Amino acid sequence: MALKRRHLEQLLLVVRGILLSLSAIKATSQITKPGCLESCGSISIPYPFGISKGCYIDESFLVICNRSFNPPKLFFPQSDVPIISNISLDDGELRVASPISRSCYDELGNLTTTPHQSDKLMITKSRFPLSTQNKFTAVGCDTLGIIQGGTSGRNYTTACATICNQLDDVTNGTCEGVGCCQMSIPDGVIDYFISASGLTNNHTDVHSFNPCSFSFVAEDYNFSSLDFLSLRNRDTVPVVLDWSVGNETCEIAEQHMSSYACTAANSECLNSSNAGGYRCRCSQGYHGNPYLLDGCRDLDECESNPNPCVHEATCKNLIGSFTCLCPKGYEGDGKRNGTGTGCTKIGRKDQTSSRLGIALGICVGLLVLVVGGSCIYWGLRKRKLDKLKEHFFQQNGGILLQQQLSQYRGCVDMAKVFTIEELNEATNNYDESRILGQGGYGTVYKGVLADNRMVAIKKSKIGDQSQIEQFINEVIVLSQVNHRNVVKLIGCCLETEVPSLVYEFITNGTLSDHIHRKGKYQLLSWELRLKIATETASALAYLHSSTSMPIIHRDVKAANILLDDSYTAKVGDFGASRLVPLDQTELTTLVQGTLGYLDPEYLHTSQLTEKSDVYSFGVVLAELLTGEKAISSERRECDRNLALFLVSSMKEDRLLQILDNHIVVDDERGIQQVKEVANLAKRCLGVRGEERPIMKEVASELEGLTKEMHPWRQHDLLRSEEAEYLLKPFDVSEDDHGASCSIITPGFDGMKNHIITPHDNVR
Ligand SMILES: *[C@@H]1O[C@H](CO)[C@@H](O)[C@H](O)[C@H]1NC(C)=O
Ligand SMILES: *[C@@H]1O[C@H](CO)[C@@H](O)[C@H](O)[C@H]1NC(C)=O
Ligand SMILES: *[C@@H]1O[C@H](CO)[C@@H](O)[C@H](O)[C@H]1NC(C)=O
Ligand SMILES: *[C@@H]1O[C@H](CO)[C@@H](O)[C@H](O)[C@H]1NC(C)=O
Ligand SMILES: *[C@@H]1O[C@H](CO)[C@@H](O)[C@H](O)[C@H]1NC(C)=O
Ligand SMILES: *[C@@H]1O[C@H](CO)[C@@H](O)[C@H](O)[C@H]1NC(C)=O
Ligand SMILES: *[C@@H]1O[C@H](CO)[C@@H](O)[C@H](O)[C@H]1NC(C)=O
Ligand SMILES: *[C@@H]1O[C@H](CO)[C@@H](O)[C@H](O)[C@H]1NC(C)=O
Ligand SMILES: *[C@@H]1O[C@H](CO)[C@@H](O)[C@H](O)[C@H]1NC(C)=O
Ligand SMILES: *[C@@H]1O[C@H](CO)[C@@H](O)[C@H](O)[C@H]1NC(C)=O
Repeated sequence: MALKRRHLEQLLLVVRGILLSLSAIKATSQITKPGCLESCGSISIPYPFGISKGCYIDESFLVICNRSFNPPKLFFPQSDVPIISNISLDDGELRVASPISRSCYDELGNLTTTPHQSDKLMITKSRFPLSTQNKFTAVGCDTLGIIQGGTSGRNYTTACATICNQLDDVTNGTCEGVGCCQMSIPDGVIDYFISASGLTNNHTDVHSFNPCSFSFVAEDYNFSSLDFLSLRNRDTVPVVLDWSVGNETCEIAEQHMSSYACTAANSECLNSSNAGGYRCRCSQGYHGNPYLLDGCRDLDECESNPNPCVHEATCKNLIGSFTCLCPKGYEGDGKRNGTGTGCTKIGRKDQTSSRLGIALGICVGLLVLVVGGSCIYWGLRKRKLDKLKEHFFQQNGGILLQQQLSQYRGCVDMAKVFTIEELNEATNNYDESRILGQGGYGTVYKGVLADNRMVAIKKSKIGDQSQIEQFINEVIVLSQVNHRNVVKLIGCCLETEVPSLVYEFITNGTLSDHIHRKGKYQLLSWELRLKIATETASALAYLHSSTSMPIIHRDVKAANILLDDSYTAKVGDFGASRLVPLDQTELTTLVQGTLGYLDPEYLHTSQLTEKSDVYSFGVVLAELLTGEKAISSERRECDRNLALFLVSSMKEDRLLQILDNHIVVDDERGIQQVKEVANLAKRCLGVRGEERPIMKEVASELEGLTKEMHPWRQHDLLRSEEAEYLLKPFDVSEDDHGASCSIITPGFDGMKNHIITPHDNVR
């Protein structure tokens, strides 16, 4: 029963994974720069704000997400107060929690709160001023509230006093001096000090219903007599700050193009009167983040509620606007309100005359078309093609990419941007004979550039805009990487409908091809396997720690490790990789990867860390040791997952039995080496990330093993046929597997090889 339930849980997990990856396909508009964290807990952090370098526009937009709280809290740097609760792009507002000042008294008028609680200071540590939507408010029936604010260059102080005798005097919902008193806030207040205290008798006369005085700055405060008591239990109220970019007006900022923030096409600039500086917004008919290139996307007005067209009209979205089509026999613009006229029935007479008009129009139109059309046809055709290319270039994030690449100028070999003609020539117009491989990501073609260089060209299968970021991501990740065991990106082409990537050509197939003997690849000797493992580990260790921003590969598997003629390993396929901002050690992402290699912890928590790559690498080691596939229905039910198979076999001390037939070692030391690699694999396959070693450790252990090889062996790395001593002398029969392998549940057979079984299922 328990087993059945476990399987059901696994099934649900798999289904959830599939649903998650489906929802990833749906287009979402980006609110941050690529690779930047989008939210802290439930609070979204749109650019120009950001929590790591390169993610914010300037220092005053740096915010800190502290994850030691649950839910995480967002602050300005060097200040735990106030806590940011919302950042809004549309109106340039920022909501923070601001303190309430209070003094409470006993029946005799003695203070029961500490004096400290009646004096509150709020310093935003940012340059963003209080919005004038806030009000300074004092609450109580014997109360004096004082505010002292600092504006740029001038101080101000004002007070609010209220006295009342009985509860019946106050009115809910009004704040006009009876029990509640409000004052507006001037422009430009950056920080303030508030206090509250008793005014005449320290609440001795009204103690029965109001023992305290309160004061605070808040947005939308709605007074209620219940607050006389209940405000004691609150520490903060929401306050709105106005934020803006720069300190100049739109016109001046626009002249300094390099720092002008309204970069999106279809965006416009607004002066900010309170904060100084300016804000950006998407033009009418667009929505999104106007501070990002390509940030303002068309708004589909027809999806809005209520529909902008009258009900008999059909709504049609256009780029930047919309139109309403009245049905046949009606006229008008079909729009619901504003200057819209709706649809009205056309009279009979009008109908015939308009029909005549249409017929005449068509005749004249046809004539013009026939005569003029052929003259301009060829001219237009050429222009249209050029336009289309440029459109694709923009749609594919060409501008974004150019900007991103220029940021890294000088420190890396810059990726080249190829033209469509160059790639057509290189691949003989994407001839089928040039296809090297095909997969979910797209098709890889072999190509020869004009300078006779051999390249691999990956033509992505990209349908929608949301995938563009991922594509740009791969270009940026790879153009920052320079390691002999990582496939080199030569360039890309953005002029085709789907963007293409151009890589160095790796001649000798994938590690998977070699291990599983696809094609005519030579079998790998133990020494070669060790060398490939070492090189792969060193590439991953480099990605995790040596680059300017750590990179998590996310899809480490034998099929993504390429080999060249001298069996040098090259890690490839960075489509899923993530750059991790330096101040973070984990990212929450949609679970992505290949079944069989996928870190079970990542699958459960969606928390992506470097240790997920370590797990996948552990599976690659297991594959190198056993020659088995990561998931295989040829193995017994409970051993379908190779990671489990290896770990459970080692537990039963059957490592040597499950070793690949083709691994041949000739002495005790060789056997020792195999065992050490297997132990390393087992540690990498730890269920919990923290049990696994970091990639650097893995790489250095493997390097140690490679170095201790016989010097003559290092020269003669390829397998020699006259094997001296076969480590695996006999084939293991089914019965040898031991009694522990007994989980067979009817009904799940079909799913089995897709399920990532948590380790604790095999006991
Ligand atoms: C997060 O908050 C905790 C507790 O207040 C504090 O100890 C820690 O230093 C903070 N971390 C950061 C990164 O600010
Ligand atoms: C933040 O404010 C925006 C605009 O006022 C609102 O649409 C959004 O729901 C708010 N988000 C949260 C988490 O309060
Ligand atoms: C309260 O006030 C009375 C008179 O004002 C004073 O005698 C008494 O000591 C005070 N009690 C405390 C605990 O401060
Ligand atoms: C404003 O008040 C602060 C502290 O009370 C003081 O240090 C500063 O000099 C004042 N500024 C002006 C312009 O008076
Ligand atoms: C204020 O609260 C009262 C109930 O206490 C409610 O009837 C009234 O509509 C509220 N006013 C506003 C402006 O929210
Ligand atoms: C009222 O309380 C304040 C402390 O908040 C104290 O300094 C003052 O003497 C008290 N006044 C009376 C009349 O009790
Ligand atoms: C104010 O409204 C609350 C309920 O929201 C009610 O309990 C209280 O009696 C009202 N106070 C007055 C003075 O109307
Ligand atoms: C505006 O900001 C720039 C840089 O942030 C600064 O150098 C300049 O002094 C500021 N100008 C004013 C008037 O505050
Ligand atoms: C911004 O302010 C300047 C000076 O106050 C004014 O000339 C300009 O027209 C304003 N621009 C916009 C877009 O409101
Ligand atoms: C159109 O009408 C809706 C309500 O029906 C209203 O919310 C909207 O502001 C109106 N738009 C214009 C442009 O008048």
